[in-house]
Amino acid sequence: MHKVKFIPSGKSVDIKPGETIYNAAVRAGMVFYDGCDGKKCCGSCRVKVLHGQNTVNKPSEQEKTTIEKYHFQKDERVACLTYPKGDIQITTSYW
Ligand code: FES
Repeated sequence: MHKVKFIPSGKSVDIKPGETIYNAAVRAGMVFYDGCDGKKCCGSCRVKVLHGQNTVNKPSEQEKTTIEKYHFQKDERVACLTYPKGDIQITTSYW
């Protein structure tokens, strides 16, 4: 089982197969700025992947559109569209 670790708290949670960062984080009690209730359209669940960038899916066309629309930085991903397949560490500007 792989883990997602939340920085700076150091809290972590197991990622279930096929689960998004968003769903794992919510299950762990982490709070997102969320403008669409996980419906994948607002870009508010932006996270920065600090470690494990090579273990997540490549951005879908839907995610690429959101990344471009909201001017994400290089290592930022849409948490509700990102599926880890290994251990990762993530952060946001408000944790
Ligand atoms: S919660 Fe809106 S895009 Fe992820």
